[in-house]
Amino acid sequence: MNLPPRPAEPGEFIPGDYFRRLSPHELFTTDSPLEIDLGCGDGTFVLEMARQFPDRNFLAVERLLGRVRRICKRASQAGLDNLRVLRLEARYTVEWLLPHASVSRLHLLFPDPWPKARHHRRRLVQGDFLHALRKALIPGGEFLFKTDHEDYFEWAREELALFGHFESLPWDEGSDELSFYPQTDFEAQWRAGGRAVHQLRMRNPST
Ligand SMILES: C[S@@+](CC[C@H](N)C(=O)[O-])C[C@H]1O[C@@H](n2cnc3c(N)ncnc32)[C@H](O)[C@@H]1O
Repeated sequence: MNLPPRPAEPGEFIPGDYFRRLSPHELFTTDSPLEIDLGCGDGTFVLEMARQFPDRNFLAVERLLGRVRRICKRASQAGLDNLRVLRLEARYTVEWLLPHASVSRLHLLFPDPWPKARHHRRRLVQGDFLHALRKALIPGGEFLFKTDHEDYFEWAREELALFGHFESLPWDEGSDELSFYPQTDFEAQWRAGGRAVHQLRMRNPST
């Protein structure tokens, strides 16, 4: 039985065809740099970024409908037309939907760490995802990753070293690129609880 399509929330992006890679202008009609917040949670980070950088476009990806609805509502109340929200699985989005060479920065902030060894294959930062990420990033595009989970952080570093196609950049909060980088909801919670936050920044080389 075919269910009728759910009407889109204001600012929500619902692909017309989930089995075809998007072309760049389907997401936004402007050519501004595109940033992705993958697994955006309650959207605190991406809403602040979209407000701060009206000359950039932001796509927030989140699988939970309630969160998608709340972010769309807040974006529309704030009049943010440079933010769209996609309700879809994170890995699928990067591997099959994002246009190649379209993303200037992809933020993966406090993703599920899948702590049990038998669940490690569910962790996002590994082989196939990294190959797809490289294709989605523009030359010089960046991957920014934060986690409170030390084991996942070490795992991510090893996977990135094995992958070998990205170069490491310092996370320099004094730099122009990172001087405005709001804490996510999870980050605020972890820091308030005294937990360390681990972060890394990688670049897709230009050549
Ligand atoms: C631990 S929370 C972190 C949220 C946010 N990035 C932050 O730092 O506050 C992880 C978020 O990713 C979403 N998520 C988990 N797995 C996902 C997946 N496979 N695809 C899309 N979203 C996912 C969850 O629903 C949740 O909102």
